[in-house]
Amino acid sequence: MNQNYDDLTAEDIYDLDSIKWNYFERDVLPLWVADMDFLPAPEILSALKARLDTWLGYGSMSGNPKLLGGIVAHMAGFGWTGLEPKNIWLVSGVVPGMYASVLGLSSVNDEIITQTPIYPPFMGSIKDHNRTMLENKMLIADNQWIIDFDHLETLVTPGTRILMICNPHNPTGRVFTRFELEKLAAFVLKHRLYVISDELHANLILEPGATHIPFASLSPEISDRTVTITGPCKTFTTAGLGIGAVISTNPKLLERIQAATKGLMGHPNIMSETAWLAGLEAGMPWLEKTKTYLQANREFLGAYLRQHLPEVKCILPEATYLAWIDFNAYAQAPEVQKFLLVTAKVGLNEGTNFGADCTGFVRLNFATSRQVLTQALERIREAIKG
Ligand SMILES: Cc1ncc(COP(=O)(O)O)c(C=O)c1O
Repeated sequence: MNQNYDDLTAEDIYDLDSIKWNYFERDVLPLWVADMDFLPAPEILSALKARLDTWLGYGSMSGNPKLLGGIVAHMAGFGWTGLEPKNIWLVSGVVPGMYASVLGLSSVNDEIITQTPIYPPFMGSIKDHNRTMLENKMLIADNQWIIDFDHLETLVTPGTRILMICNPHNPTGRVFTRFELEKLAAFVLKHRLYVISDELHANLILEPGATHIPFASLSPEISDRTVTITGPCKTFTTAGLGIGAVISTNPKLLERIQAATKGLMGHPNIMSETAWLAGLEAGMPWLEKTKTYLQANREFLGAYLRQHLPEVKCILPEATYLAWIDFNAYAQAPEVQKFLLVTAKVGLNEGTNFGADCTGFVRLNFATSRQVLTQALERIREAIKG
């Protein structure tokens, strides 16, 4: 594989032991799992190779100090100042961090609110540990996915403990504004909730003018109630290396989460730390180049849908390389994911995995070459149009 994204074909990727590419039959173009089809930055690959030529023993138990410093500096770039390395707990991924946080900050039967549609492990982390999920469905207004603040207020009971947010939001791609986040913050303080904020897609903002605001950066009171979870895997396309960071300026919250998962979370993986550090130190030009490509793919996708499948509704994502697409105007809507898999030979994520009433929706990953994206869209158009 080379670094020229336009040249990338399905043949380059099929045999790489990737769940995205190997889950379906070989004649399917898979635009599902949130992995980019591109190689990581050359600087990350060189750092990993260099590390392999040295030593692979245990690293520092609380994490490579250079990496922790790099994460602190990176967060300061988003306007989150005052963070310290001791506020960061390195774990094996964002999802393990999310599950651990649910365990540590709530008890069985406690209520946890989340905004649906939502990345499925949010719901898993609530239900798998016998907490109760309170669903606040997102709405569409002015061609934008928004939080239903009125409904949110009606959900809370004395048994509600946590608000889980995903910002930028997977699957809609919303980047919440300061106004929206401050409204959420007021809600959280009023009801004395904890917040678990998954900010994994923060570096993938595609919409000019949109900016990522870490929830914990809103105020010291909010920081005191918030656990932020992030990692390098979406930014730098290193998901197979598994690493994440659970961050809170409130040591009591981190202690509770660590106590609830004592002995289960392992220790930081030095290859993953190496990749993340190299990304932060030297991977930003690669990220800018990649975001430019993703932006162009996003525009291409939007134009293609408007021209060839005008009944499809898709509010293009402000961030992420994931498009949340509504096929409900078409007869195939009730089983559209299955229909597109069987008839178009395109593998997309099934909408109902993101929320009970997401029938007719699919999630499409456009982090691939323009030629693969075009081929997939042509197949979808032909199948839908019959
Ligand atoms: C919002 C969000 N959180 C977490 C993850 C998974 O993170 P990890 O692989 O570090 O567990 C994903 C992957 O798609 C995601 O989109």
